[in-house]
Amino acid sequence: MTAAAAVAAAASFASCVCWSSRFDSALFFTWQLRRPSLSFPCRLRLVLRQSMASSLTTKATLGLTKPAAVEFPQISFSAKEIDISEWNGDVLAVAISEKDMSKGSDSKFENPILKKLDEQLGGLLADVSEEEDFKGKAGQAAVIRLPGLGFKRLSLVGLGPIAPSSMTTSYRGIGEAVASTARAAQASNAAIVVASLISKDARVLAASAIASGTILGIYEDNRFKSETKKALLKSVDIIGLGAGPELEKKLRYASDISSGVIFGKELVNAPANVLTPGALAEEVSKIASSYSDVFTAKIFDAEQCKEMNMGSYLAVAAASSNPPHFIHLCYRPIDGNIKTKLAIVGKGLTFDSGGYNIKTGPGSSIELMKFDMGGSAAAFGAAKAIGQIKPPGVEVHFIVAACENMISGTGMRPGDIITASNGKTIEVNNTDAEGRLTLADALVYACNQGIEKVVDLATLTGACIVALGPSIAGFFTPSDELAKEIIAASEVAGEKLWRMPLEDSYWESMKSSVADMLNTGGRPGGAITAALFLKQFVDEKVQWMHIDMAGPVWNEKKRTSTGFGVSTLVEWVLLNSS
Ligand code: BES
Ligand code: MN
Ligand code: ZN
Repeated sequence: MTAAAAVAAAASFASCVCWSSRFDSALFFTWQLRRPSLSFPCRLRLVLRQSMASSLTTKATLGLTKPAAVEFPQISFSAKEIDISEWNGDVLAVAISEKDMSKGSDSKFENPILKKLDEQLGGLLADVSEEEDFKGKAGQAAVIRLPGLGFKRLSLVGLGPIAPSSMTTSYRGIGEAVASTARAAQASNAAIVVASLISKDARVLAASAIASGTILGIYEDNRFKSETKKALLKSVDIIGLGAGPELEKKLRYASDISSGVIFGKELVNAPANVLTPGALAEEVSKIASSYSDVFTAKIFDAEQCKEMNMGSYLAVAAASSNPPHFIHLCYRPIDGNIKTKLAIVGKGLTFDSGGYNIKTGPGSSIELMKFDMGGSAAAFGAAKAIGQIKPPGVEVHFIVAACENMISGTGMRPGDIITASNGKTIEVNNTDAEGRLTLADALVYACNQGIEKVVDLATLTGACIVALGPSIAGFFTPSDELAKEIIAASEVAGEKLWRMPLEDSYWESMKSSVADMLNTGGRPGGAITAALFLKQFVDEKVQWMHIDMAGPVWNEKKRTSTGFGVSTLVEWVLLNSS
């Protein structure tokens, strides 16, 4: 696309639903204030009134809901090597494993930190651990109010046993526990000490996991509530895990990644009446302009997608009165030196009703289908973090074919034959298998960007939830190399992924008598046949991975999004950076 076309595309969504309510209400407020003193001629007043009215109608969402301004928790972290007896503040948290709790023959703690702390507290630590039955198990916590000391509260947090592959999860849990204590105690500062001795490499990982756990633990998505309580936590000292520039850098990364995770969570939590495909495109253009030194964005409307022959994607979008927006955000390092080119493709169904194969019955979770853009949220959450970190040597394309799967007279019917942008024809035997139809054109587009590797993320199949449950994503790839990279990235990120087979013989069930393929192959191996379908649209020279994140996109217990995928993607990009 030419620069002029890109500008035109940008202008075409300028009239979409406005995401930020702050601007709207400020405008409205000014208008109300000024109205009594208006001395404009009548005609001008009318124009003003009309433009106000039209800005309200174009920017108001269905149901008149507008999210409150977003606030990222501003917590400053510093890594210190001090004696904890020197620390003064609201909450001193000590992370303790079961091993740390062992006592010597003199019935004193063997762990030097606990021993010293217990002496300082006159044996209180030993008493409390006994009375509260605190054994240092994962998830255990005890808080002691301490008058007359340098810190007001001592918080004991259980660390449990730590496996190397789950270190991030364990230390993130410590951060989350401290956040919840700080919230309850209305603390504005805290210090965290890990009692166990850990290796130098592990210390850096532990410190950044503690930091991200604290940020994500403090954060609450209250944009759609009329009354909220603010968290007060402003500063956290991480003691005994080292100090210095390398650690400071990792702590900054942790904060950057957390802001990406929060952004991803907010995109998923936003309901479909607020986060339309146009609103999603507008959010991405905001990222592009916030980090304009590294990002360029192209947004294509339906007409432009038609010119690119994206018949598969457009068929899914056809029923909705909220038009589709094909989003392409590109990251290039500041110095322009590029060694590796990557693409991240996300499923961006801002709502999935199922279409004519409508989702019926309680098991279908139609009321949760705002989360069907979780793949795109992971992509753009990662983009936001990358925009802040600015890794060198790597170019990253973030690509999302955003739309809604709805029902109307203009919608795609079961049995329709549609044609994707690579010329392949698809007999749509189920309109609810729409994600793969949008991803097909997005993958063809991605592979035309001269990339070496592409990862797509999608809330693609209920079958993947049946296979792996709610907290593990399935991944499919013919490339062992890419599998290794993503596994390494996901371990640092603390996100669970499991490799699934791309069983070619199952393609049999996807054969159509009238078109090149069907879009669904029935219930058996549903996550696998979905992945095999996507493979039809990937250039064989490009290393490709599909991640089905239908399970982990949503936390059923907490009834909120998880931000799944953001951290793994950022770590993967950093792995490919030089
Ligand atoms: N978005 C759904 C997948 C989904 C279902 C995610 C439940 C999370 C929870 C997807 O578009 C879909 O409807 N898939 C169908 C495919 C089937 C028709 C072959 C499914 O999984 O039932
Ligand atoms: Mn569906
Ligand atoms: Zn879907």
